[in-house]
Order: sequence, then C-alpha cells, then structure tokens
Amino acid sequence: MRNHTRTHRLSQRAAPFTTTTKATSQAERARRLRYNFQPVLTCLVGSFADVPQDLLKEIQELECLFTIDTAKLKQITNRFQAELDKGLSVEGGSIPMNPTWVMSFPTGYETGTYLALDMGGTNLRVCQITLTEQKSEFDIIQSKYRMPEELKTGEADELWEYIADCLMQFLETHHGDTSKLEKLPLGFTFSYPATQNYVDAGILQRWTKGFDIAGVEGHNVVPMFEAALAARGVPIKLAALINDTTGTLIASAYTDTKMKIGCIFGTGCNAAYMEDCGSIPKLAHLNLPPDTPMAINCEWGAFDNEHQVLPRTPYDITIDKDSPRPGQQAFEKMIAGLYLGEIFRLVMVDLHDNHETHIFANQDISKLRKAYSLDSSFLSAIEEDPYENLSETFELFQNKLDITPSLPELELIRRTAELIGTRAARLSACGVAAISRKKSYNTCHVGADGSVFNKYPNFKARGALALREILDWPEKNDPKEDDPIEILAAEDGSGVGAALIAALTLQRVKNGNMHGILHPENYQ
Ligand code: GLC
Repeated sequence: MRNHTRTHRLSQRAAPFTTTTKATSQAERARRLRYNFQPVLTCLVGSFADVPQDLLKEIQELECLFTIDTAKLKQITNRFQAELDKGLSVEGGSIPMNPTWVMSFPTGYETGTYLALDMGGTNLRVCQITLTEQKSEFDIIQSKYRMPEELKTGEADELWEYIADCLMQFLETHHGDTSKLEKLPLGFTFSYPATQNYVDAGILQRWTKGFDIAGVEGHNVVPMFEAALAARGVPIKLAALINDTTGTLIASAYTDTKMKIGCIFGTGCNAAYMEDCGSIPKLAHLNLPPDTPMAINCEWGAFDNEHQVLPRTPYDITIDKDSPRPGQQAFEKMIAGLYLGEIFRLVMVDLHDNHETHIFANQDISKLRKAYSLDSSFLSAIEEDPYENLSETFELFQNKLDITPSLPELELIRRTAELIGTRAARLSACGVAAISRKKSYNTCHVGADGSVFNKYPNFKARGALALREILDWPEKNDPKEDDPIEILAAEDGSGVGAALIAALTLQRVKNGNMHGILHPENYQ
C-alpha cells in the first residue's frame, strides 16, 4: 500500500518556482516570445510557414475560441468580485465562500507535534510535523499512499476504512506499539467544499474533482472518519478539518508575512484568504467581534456556474455534460489539471471527426477516443518540446496514442496546447485579481501550490502577465522588478499548514476562544 517514506528537514523558505525546460533553441525562443508572452491579440494567426491553409484556418478558429483578451479578463474579474461578495451574503451565490474557523495568522512561534492527513485528488498523504522552537521552522516525516481510483467512485465505508488503515500503518511505523500512545492531534485536509459551522466538523456540499461516493454529500464527514478510527483503535483526535487552500494560506504566512491569499492550481482550482468577521453578513447572527479574522475557503471553482461571463467553448460544454456533476465547477473545469488534457483530447477528436481538414486522416485514433486518457502532464510535455521539428511531441503521439502526426499537425498540436494552457493561466489571474481588489490589496504575496502551478510550463509567467493587464500596472522599468502582487510557490499547506491550523486551534481554545468548536473535549 505504501509507496515510500521520506524523512526531511525542510527549509523554512518557500521553494523557488522552477520549470524543467530543456535547452531551448533560438527558434524556439522566438516562437515562445511570439506566442506565449505577447499581450493576447484576439484571433491572431501564427505565422506557421509550413502549415497548409486548411490547417491554418483551424488554428485560427481555435485561437478565436480560446483566446481571452484584456477587456474580457477585466469583465470576468468585475463579475468575480461581485460574486465573492454575494457568497458572503445571507442569500449566498454560486461561490460558497465557506468560513473555516481559522481565526488568525500564525506568528511563526507555534510549537508542538501534530499529525496531518491530506486527502487530495490523487494521493493520500500522512505527515507528522514538529513545529520547532526556532521561528518558522519545522521537521516533517511523511508517507504517501496511492489513492486507488476505484475508491473515488466507490462506497463511503471503504474510503474511511482505507484512510484509517493508512493512518494506523503510519503510526505503527513511526511510533511502534500504538496501544500505549496518547491520542495525537490531527489536522485533516479534506479538499472539497464543506460547510463548516465548526472547525472540527464539515458537511460536504458536493464532491468535486471527479469524486462520486454515495452517502457523503450533505453529511458531516468527521463522524464518519472518527468512526473508522475508533473501529481500529487509531489513537488520533481531530483538531481541525481543513481545506488545502486554507492550509496553503496559513503555511505560506508562517514564513512570509506578506502572504494574503492561498491558491491551489492542481487537480482542482481554488483559493482562500482572510476576511474580517464584520464583513461576513452570513455570520452576523453569531455576533463575532467585527475585526476578528476568519479565513474563507472561497471554493471559487464554482464561479459562473450560471454561465454568464466565462467564454466557454463547445469542448468545455462537453466536459461539463459528461462529468459526474454537470452544472458545477464551471470555472474549475476550464482551469484545473484534471480537465486540461481532456479539453485538448476533445479538440483533437473533433478535428479528426468533424472538420474538413480531418487531422490524422486514415489513422486509427481509438486510443485518443478514451475519455480522460491524457492528463495535464501530456500538455506540459508538448509545450516543453524544445525542438523546432517538435520531435518529442511526435514521439509522444506515437508512443502514447499510436498516432503519427505530420509536421503541420504537430504545429497545430503545439498551438492547441499553448492556447489551453494560456487560457487556464489567464483565467486564474481573474480570481486572484478579484480577491486583491475586494480586499484593497495593492501589494501582497499570493502562495500557490498544485501540479499545474508547479509543473505546467509558463503558467506562472502567463498568469503574472494577465494580472498586470487586469490591474493596469505600468510597464516595468527593469524586468527583475517585483510585481506589486506576486504569485509565489507556497509552503506545504496540507502538511505544515494543517499542523499549524491544529496548533492555532488548540491555542485559541486554551485562550478561551470557543467560537466554532464542536467538541471542546478534544482540545484538552
Ligand atoms: C476543488 C475543491 C476545493 C479544493 C480544490 C483544490 O476545487 O472543491 O475544495 O480546494 O479543488 O484542491
């Protein structure tokens, strides 16, 4: 079951953002400059010297479909900001804006040993984190467990039992005989939309990211989780149920006090930020001190579920229609890693079947027809192909799909990947801009994590450019100058962030702040 166990001492500083590009040719650099970094001009046809007219026409059409110009970005951002407000109102809106009962930033002086469980989209991770006496430092031991695909659409009991087994195995490995162990406090990163009336409870609003397990939506997940722990005698007490974005926000703020927003651009896409209780009308009935902070898990993946402003393509409509939750997560389905490869695949199949050009004519595309067979790393690989003749992309298509693309088809493939990746990055910037504007943050840091942010080529640069366009920043005098709002690689939210939130919650209970605590006995 276990893949590997690593023991590290991680540095206190956020890891620098890196991309793994290979040596880039002159021509490639020129290509990237032409296509990737220009402020996007709508419906611009690339100068593809060798591409025949009919394919050029297809490329032009794709450019029209997928390009989002500055004016549109601004329009999306305006609506986004209004929707953030709506989510905090009593009536509510599409964006859930879930209060999380995380009621302060860390100081950097938190201490103690905590467990963290991360139930993300792909893996299950268990960590033991020690927040040391030294400011903003920590030690971490972690094990990753595969999240079997069948669990994502299986039975609820099986899910909780599997999680409890992983936790037990972790404790046995690192603590030996668990029967003698005092109950350890745990931060559980459950990265799905949950209504939290308490920090130690969460009613699943709906599954996202392709999960579809019956009997969990509409229920508090904590008792289900705790029942599985109790059945196995796993010595753990839950201190906080956490969203990965909130964890990212808190973990990043632990080492950098300029961090104001935490984002995930991974399998899913979402953000959290710190609001004042007085600005959350839907909590007014609780009479919380108005200037007390409250982290809000936006669940912004649900932005524009009513399809008012996002320029959806026919491919986005298909993705939604064929997903386990049609009508949900409209924004996420255009951005997140789970969907980028699928959008690309749908474009390719459509150009083979339905257009006059018939790309990959007379070839067997049965492998390409398999839904969700291409993930976002496939697009990353295409965008990273350093060769002018796109030989790596050629090999990728041959090896993975048994398709032999012509050179002009390779150009179209490359351009399609760029368009999809660029659109995702530019749309992401709308969310960051909307929160920044709402909070009047003219300068701040945004901590971002997730496979798309960390691994997708140019995602960061494309997002930064879009942010500049939306917020009308003047041109830089020096390219090395920092942007007023910078999206930076975050600290480990679902490990260190979860531990910090457990520590902050235990501390505030000790100080007598019992707001949003369901089981005070767990905090003794
Ligand atoms: C999905 C989830 C959200 C999570 C995000 C990133 O949008 O609904 O809770 O934060 O994915 O993992």
